[in-house]
Amino acid sequence: MDMKAYLTENRQRMLDELFDLLRIPSVSADPEFAGDVKRCAEAVADSLTKAGASAVEVMVTGGHPIVYGEYITNENAPTVLVYGHYDVQPPDPVELWDSPPFEPVIKTTPAHPEGAIFARGACDDKGQMFMHVKALEAMVATGDVPCNIKFIIEGEEEVGSDHLDDFLVTHKEKLSADVVLVSDTGIISNDVPSITVGLRGLSYVEVEVKGPNRDLHSGLYGGAAPNPINILCEMIASLKDEDQRITIDGFYDDVLELSSEEREAMARAPFSEDRYKSSIGIGATEGEPSYTPPERMSIRPTLDLNGIWGGYIKEGAKTVIPSIATAKVSMRLVPHQDFDTITELFTAHFKRISPPSVSIKVTPHHGAAPAVTPTDSKAYHAASRAMTSTFGVEPIPIRSGGSIPIVASFERILGLKTVLFGFGLDSDAIHSPNEHYGVFNYFKGIETIPLFYKYFAE
Ligand code: BES
Ligand code: MN
Ligand code: MN
Repeated sequence: MDMKAYLTENRQRMLDELFDLLRIPSVSADPEFAGDVKRCAEAVADSLTKAGASAVEVMVTGGHPIVYGEYITNENAPTVLVYGHYDVQPPDPVELWDSPPFEPVIKTTPAHPEGAIFARGACDDKGQMFMHVKALEAMVATGDVPCNIKFIIEGEEEVGSDHLDDFLVTHKEKLSADVVLVSDTGIISNDVPSITVGLRGLSYVEVEVKGPNRDLHSGLYGGAAPNPINILCEMIASLKDEDQRITIDGFYDDVLELSSEEREAMARAPFSEDRYKSSIGIGATEGEPSYTPPERMSIRPTLDLNGIWGGYIKEGAKTVIPSIATAKVSMRLVPHQDFDTITELFTAHFKRISPPSVSIKVTPHHGAAPAVTPTDSKAYHAASRAMTSTFGVEPIPIRSGGSIPIVASFERILGLKTVLFGFGLDSDAIHSPNEHYGVFNYFKGIETIPLFYKYFAE
C-alpha cells in the first residue's frame, strides 16, 4: 500500500489515538498531576512500540520521565533525533474554555474550515509530537523508513526542561545523530508554509516588594506608610522609557543587530497589521518605533509582566495597605544575550531603583538561551523540499518569538543543529483557553515528515 492510501484508510484511528493522549491531563507545572504525567509518558511509550519502534523506554529523571525509542534502518543511513514534549500548560482559567480542556472535540474555526481539535496540548505539543509517531507507523507499514530515527519525548518542556541537559550529557552516545527534528513551532498560515529558523531566549523572575510588617488600615496609616503595590507599579513602569526601550543598564549590550539585508528578507514574510490587531482584539500595536511589529516580536528583546498581585482582590472593597506585592516578569532574549547575565542585571537594577521604605526579593525561575538554526544545511533543504511538495509552495524561513530551551542544549551538548518543523498556527491559542490544532495541519504533518526522511537520506 502507498503512503496516501495508508493515511486515508487509517485517518479516523489516527485521530482517535491522539484524542486518547489528549484526555490525559499531563500538566507538568502542578505536582497534583504527577501521576497523570507519568501515565502520559507510558502512553507515549506504548504508541512508539505499536508504531514499530524498538528499545522503547520510559526513562526516570530527577523530574518527569523522558520517553526514548528508536527505529534503526541500517548503519549507513543518516540518523535523525526527533524531539517533542508530552507535557502541557495548565488549562487555567478553565471557565473560559467552551468545552472541557481534557475532553477533545472537533469544531471549525475561520482558520480551520476543515475542523480543529480543541484540547489542552492539541497543538503544543501532543498533536505535533504525535505526528512523528504516526509518520513512523505509516513508514513502517508501507515498508520504507529511509533514516535511522531516535525519539526523545520529554515531560518538562513547559517548566523549563530542567533535567534534559543532564540527560543529554549522560546519554550522549545513545543519542548520537546527524540532526535534530522538532515539531513544536508554527507556519504562517495553511497556504503559506514556513520554517522557523530563530527562537528567542528567556529570563523569568519573580519579584516581591515588602513594606510594612502587616496589612494596615488604609485610613489610619495611609499617607505615611509605604504601599508596596504602589511602589511595585512605579518600579515596573520605570523599566521602559517612552520609546518602549528597556531601561535596565546593560540590557542591550549583547543584542545582535540584524543587517538591513536580513531585515529586508524578514519583511518578505506576509504580515497584515490590521489582521493582527483584529485577531487579538486590540486598537493599536505597541513597541519600539524603529522596528516593525514582526521584528518587535522576534529579533528584539522584551520585558513583560505575566502576573501581579497583592492586597485585597476578592469581592467588594476592603480598605487595606498590604504588606507585600508580587509580580512575575518575563524577558524574551535574542542572540547573543545570556539569560544568567540578564537575570543578574535585572536583579541589580531592581534593587537599585527601590526606595528605602521597602525591601526587595528577586527569585529567578527558568532561563532559556536564544537559538538560530541554519538555512543552508542539508536538513533545512530536505525540510523545505518536503513542505514544497505537500503544500505546493516553498516555505519561508521565519524567526519566531517563542522559546524552546533545549534547541541551544542540543547544539552545546550534542553538537547538533535543529530543524524546527512545526505545523501550528499562531491563532491556535497555545497556552490560552480553547487551544486547538487543525485536522488539516495534523495530517499535513504526518504526510510531510516521511518526505523529510526521504530527501534527507538522498
Ligand atoms: N512550543 C512552545 C514554543 C513555541 C511555540 C515556539 C510557537 C515558537 C512558536 C513551547 O512549548 C513553549 O511554550 N515554550 C515556552 C518556554 C518555556 C521555558 C516555558 C515559551 O516560549 O514560553
Ligand atoms: Mn511546545
Ligand atoms: Mn508551550
